Amino acid sequence: MAVALSVWNLITLLILFIAVAHFGSALQETSPAPPPVVSRIAFGSCSHQSYPQPIWDAVIDFDPQLFIHLGDNIYGDNKRPFRMFGKERTIGPWKNVPRFYPSSEQEMEKKYEIAKQVPGYSRLRKKAQIIGTWDDHDYGLNDAGKEFSGKISSQRLLLDFLDEDEDSPRRKQAGVYASYLFGPKGKQIKVILLDTRYHRDPMGSDGSILGDSQWVWLEKELKGPGSELTIIASSIQVVSNLSATTGPLFGMESWGRFPNERKRLFRLITDTKRNGVLFISGDVHFGEITRYDCGSEYSLYDITSSGLTQAVEAAVPPPFAFVVRFLAWLTPSTMRVYGPKCRYRSCTYGQPNFGAIEIQWDATPQIVKVGVRDTTGAPVAGVDILFSDLQHRSTGQAFDKEKVKQQHCTLETDLPWIVRRRLAFFCFGAVAALFVGLVLLIYMLVRISKKLVRKFKID
Ligand SMILES: *[C@@H]1O[C@H](CO)[C@@H](O)[C@H](O)[C@H]1NC(C)=O
Repeated sequence: MAVALSVWNLITLLILFIAVAHFGSALQETSPAPPPVVSRIAFGSCSHQSYPQPIWDAVIDFDPQLFIHLGDNIYGDNKRPFRMFGKERTIGPWKNVPRFYPSSEQEMEKKYEIAKQVPGYSRLRKKAQIIGTWDDHDYGLNDAGKEFSGKISSQRLLLDFLDEDEDSPRRKQAGVYASYLFGPKGKQIKVILLDTRYHRDPMGSDGSILGDSQWVWLEKELKGPGSELTIIASSIQVVSNLSATTGPLFGMESWGRFPNERKRLFRLITDTKRNGVLFISGDVHFGEITRYDCGSEYSLYDITSSGLTQAVEAAVPPPFAFVVRFLAWLTPSTMRVYGPKCRYRSCTYGQPNFGAIEIQWDATPQIVKVGVRDTTGAPVAGVDILFSDLQHRSTGQAFDKEKVKQQHCTLETDLPWIVRRRLAFFCFGAVAALFVGLVLLIYMLVRISKKLVRKFKID
């Protein structure tokens, strides 16, 4: 009996052993290989589908594993010419038609088709994963927000352009926000794409940019499992508040125009104790790197690349590019990162450009190199950021009173008015000087001609 039992026991053990071994190897077979390490990411914004796009060669040479579209991926809306007089007046106090008007769905679709067939871009699509969000012109209308009626069809067209799966939840939600996780444990990068359009309240309302549902989602994303880096992509600038220094001449969209919403974003990073956050943004038609030291417990960087084709210097004839550069230099910025890696003194770059992020995972200390590059791939602005500088300090205080008066902490609106309005003073001054010069010239011409007439009479 005892012998039989132990034989049975042996057989059972054997079966168990075989089963476990088999199951184990089956597990090994089906458990996926760890995701590859991601260390090169490119991004960009503002590419007009009908303009030449030589920039893609430089992006491909950078050899990114991931490319992030930050919006204005096409110019879907239409623009009337600048006109002060005539039947359709688009500027001046007597303007009677808006400068921008939306396209039909078919026209938008056509524009996306053109964009997708740009040869350089097609090549990039074969080499790198491409993800993205939108800004106003691909949303369908310049500076539009939640009120825009074409947003549902625009969402479908953007997701088609990005090859989003037919059954992706992103096709069912209101807005195109999304998150991605790349890399194996210990080298993880979370990319959060914000939608700054679908739920945005009107400009000047100081209402919401993201809307309730997206805020709930974002909070969950930031609270969720940590990652070594978290890249938050926003179509509009997060750190720089350009309008504060370009007003009253012109204004740009930015998180700064919604001060409460911006505070909420920074507070969320502090409250969730999320480490390794970097912002990337587009929209403004130039590149720059900015940094805010009083938003959270560590420096918040915002790397702005704009545009892939649309850039401020390209809007003027080449001999006048220096004027644009001078004005960029003249406009004060409290947030911009100045440094030896800038091509120009202003540390802005107004020719076509793309953004580049390189992560040196195996370096000690670990660093992330961020920058803006030109159409040849050469850097025009850049900063090396230590991972250790993107960590909440346990004793830290979000708002250090000592620092408030320093660069990277002073808000643009807190600059002395004479500094803050420097650009406006210069421009009004230049116009006034031109006017006085013109009046003097006319006065002199009149005097000379009178003298000549008198001389002629005497003779
Ligand atoms: C940004 O500038 C605008 C315009 O001057 C101003 O109303 C707003 O309060 C500023 N935002 C921040 C965060 O300073």
